[in-house]
Amino acid sequence: MPLVTTKEMFRKAYDGGYAVGAFNVNNMEIVQGITEAAREVHAPMILQVSKGARAYANHTYLVKLVEAAVIECPEIPIALHLDHGPDFETCKSCIDGGFTSVMIDASSKPFEENIEITRRVVEYAHDHGVVVEAELGALAGIEDDVKVSAEESHYTHPEEVEEFVSKTGCDSLAIAIGTSHGAYKFTAEQCTRNEKGELVPPPLRFDILEEVSKRLPGFPIVLHGSSSVPQEYVKMINENGGKMPDAVGIPEEQLRQAARLAVCKINIDSDLRLAMTGTIRQFFTEHPDKFDPREYLKPARANIKELVKHKLIDVLGCDGKA
Ligand code: G3H
Ligand code: 13P
Ligand code: ZN
Repeated sequence: MPLVTTKEMFRKAYDGGYAVGAFNVNNMEIVQGITEAAREVHAPMILQVSKGARAYANHTYLVKLVEAAVIECPEIPIALHLDHGPDFETCKSCIDGGFTSVMIDASSKPFEENIEITRRVVEYAHDHGVVVEAELGALAGIEDDVKVSAEESHYTHPEEVEEFVSKTGCDSLAIAIGTSHGAYKFTAEQCTRNEKGELVPPPLRFDILEEVSKRLPGFPIVLHGSSSVPQEYVKMINENGGKMPDAVGIPEEQLRQAARLAVCKINIDSDLRLAMTGTIRQFFTEHPDKFDPREYLKPARANIKELVKHKLIDVLGCDGKA
């Protein structure tokens, strides 16, 4: 089937109590690892491209890689999504250039301005058969070149969501309930420690999610910053020349819980980067004489595939009926 929008996949995810995985893509091995996993477990998928990914790999290369995935996985619904579109022009360029979904992220702007920018993107997108994700609230962490400190971050205000959605006409809404971008989601001071001495982050604000979904019944909610920062990969990186102290993510059982509720799209990027980096670092420790990129990218791609399968089944709760 051709690239699809997220409309139908979100409807099924909402009704089925699971979430669709949205994974960031930057190169061929990442696209292959994700799509081979989704194909094996019959899960729909969202392949998303950030402004940084377009700057790194070039729009055309990324679109063609995703089109190759569509040919290789003809039975799986795939959406091509712009992640964190910074302005109308970038969204327009992706809408004109073959994307089926865009995010306009004007969440750092005042409420009325966010509505205005989002409404303009929605108008153009809907005229071209493309769906729009918008955001209310501000996550901590780094996305592209924007760093939001913990102090600047703030949770979504549930009392704003009805007005925002009705005035903008957006198709899904990203909210801030305590997730955060990157591999260092929380400072040690924000966490407690368990009996093994590991950092335990503060729990997600399910009260906000529930209040939002009460106000927007049936409406798809999106969670950004949802990597769990697998400690086995952090360890692999640190044991092979890396230095990532106190990297910590969102506990998987909390994401599973969110997916049972109104959350229909869960964004995961950092975990795939950790899997790739850990695998390559370990490869070079074990094989200091090797220099063929295929030899180290092959196990990296295989580990991305295994990780994505685990996410799709055990964390997002996909039902294998894509
Ligand atoms: O939220 C941001 C995504 O992880 C994309 O990251 O801007 O480094 O491509 P990037
Ligand atoms: P992570 O950094 O937690 O993987 O979040 C990715 C994301 O939200 C992409 O938009
Ligand atoms: Zn994000």
